[in-house]
Amino acid sequence: MSILPRYPALRLRRTRAHGWSRALFREHRLSPADLVWPLFIGSGDADEEPVATLPGVSRWSVPQIAARAREAVSLGIPCIALFPNTPHDRRTARGEEALNPDNLICQAIRAVRDACGDAIGIMTDVALDPYTSHGQDGVLDSRGRIANDATVEILAQQALVQARAGADIIAPSDMMDGRVGAIRRALEEEGCHDVQILSYAAKFASAFYGPFRDAVGSGGLLKGDKKTYQMDPANGDEALREIALDIAEGADAVMVKPGLAYLDIIWRAREAFGVPVFAYQVSGEYALTTIGAAAGVGDRDALMMEKLLAFKRAGATGIVTYFARDAARLLSD
Ligand code: PBG
Repeated sequence: MSILPRYPALRLRRTRAHGWSRALFREHRLSPADLVWPLFIGSGDADEEPVATLPGVSRWSVPQIAARAREAVSLGIPCIALFPNTPHDRRTARGEEALNPDNLICQAIRAVRDACGDAIGIMTDVALDPYTSHGQDGVLDSRGRIANDATVEILAQQALVQARAGADIIAPSDMMDGRVGAIRRALEEEGCHDVQILSYAAKFASAFYGPFRDAVGSGGLLKGDKKTYQMDPANGDEALREIALDIAEGADAVMVKPGLAYLDIIWRAREAFGVPVFAYQVSGEYALTTIGAAAGVGDRDALMMEKLLAFKRAGATGIVTYFARDAARLLSD
């Protein structure tokens, strides 16, 4: 910094004076290839069920999920992330439906693979909350606490079920200790050497997940909170320890979640480890932006793009966002 000339020799407004110059000096760019599109799989007969608390987002039938995947390919979005809304009569205390090779998520994986072949990456959620009758991400012990090691065994099986159906990226979102290592070992033993693990390494016990829980139907079931496994929003150093552990256990990439309120964690993880770090711009962030824009706070597209760009500036490798289709359309115009 010491070699900088001073005003008036230096006028930083000079490079901002024209559109061409702003384009030339732009440090970060968003492209459709930065985006992962989360898709909810519906269990009813309807092709499309709008999610009331996520305006513009729907649950789709399995054939419609395949159609969305084709749309993603045509827009240059490289990857989708699948989340099932398991029928309520299939939710149990131990979430057995997670291991059913013909469950909703496995049906959707196969449908997308049939429709798109290798042209798109399929990321799948490993956690038990869409399958449990109590809405927690793990199984409970006799005193009602989330049992870590018993849950990890099930998660490793769940990952295998998804990998056998054709998932490319296993994304554990449960925050149990030791699950990345257990999943990696299970995948290696099964010969799934190329199946990636993108671990939700720093996932915070956040108030921004409400609409997602509506979308997967776990919100009404959940009693209490997830604070014994998801992280305290006050902790940054601990987030780095979580990330370090997951990398050591074999994660190919890590996720920070939620997004905008945790940009410092993305930045610190990149600086500390130089590994691929993804941001999850979660349901509450999407909903607040969309509802705020509708209420006249600002232009939806502009709010969306500014927030997405912030992730790139913070060093994110990619962004999981419900805006993926809208943003990709805007970028390709
Ligand atoms: C749970 C899971 C959650 C989200 C993704 N996976 C919610 C939770 O932890 O309760 C939230 C995503 C979002 O809000 O968009 N395994």
